[in-house]
Amino acid sequence: MKKIIIFTLAALTAGLFAQDLKLVPPQTKGGATFREALAKRCSLRNYTGKALSAQQLSNLFYAACGMNRKDTKKLTIPTARNVQDIVLYAATAQGIYRYDAESHSLKLLKKGDFRSQMGMQKGMFAKAAVVLIFTSDLSRYNFGGSEAEKKIYAGVHAGFAIQNVGLFCAAEGLGNVVIGSYNRKNVPALLGLGKNQPVMMVQLVGTLK
Ligand SMILES: Cc1cc2nc3c(=O)[nH]c(=O)nc-3n(C[C@H](O)[C@H](O)[C@H](O)COP(=O)(O)O)c2cc1C
Repeated sequence: MKKIIIFTLAALTAGLFAQDLKLVPPQTKGGATFREALAKRCSLRNYTGKALSAQQLSNLFYAACGMNRKDTKKLTIPTARNVQDIVLYAATAQGIYRYDAESHSLKLLKKGDFRSQMGMQKGMFAKAAVVLIFTSDLSRYNFGGSEAEKKIYAGVHAGFAIQNVGLFCAAEGLGNVVIGSYNRKNVPALLGLGKNQPVMMVQLVGTLK
């Protein structure tokens, strides 16, 4: 009986701690050269369904919009007046997460596999290791400007992150594709986004056949 209680407590505690995922430190040296990455950048859609390694997952989020200067809390992407509006979500086989650059961790928002509900190309979505969803929190724009201007900036910021991911994938031998045909209804609903936080774009990352 005592053993069962200890086992149950251990399982429950493990479950609690499994909520969020602290990423391993990103690699900031080595890898393919910038020129090699540029030469290899392309859209690839033939994924195996295999998960990324812990190091690849860490490097991926660091490339997308990680914090590369801890002293000033600035990112691997530039943003207008350092507004840092891009909020990045990820759907994997395990659940939906939100990335936090400062702690370099993924906060679990929803358990379960929702990947194939997020796009029209369902088979491809189901086999992507990570479905990245780039959103912009427009409430962070505290320096005026019209709604149209904010959305232009937000699109540019998401574009930087997407290209960083594309080049990272090229350098790492992973596949990626930008997805404009994401499900306009399901994605914001699954993420619980308010109207001040539009989805800018979706991008798939996967291990290749
Ligand atoms: C904004 C945008 C939306 C896209 N949407 C899709 C998409 O929904 N599905 C898809 O398979 N590819 C999509 N693509 C990928 C393009 O088809 C691809 O970039 C283009 O054919 C050029 O190929 P390359 O990326 O290998 O140079 C999109 C690309 C961009 C930039």
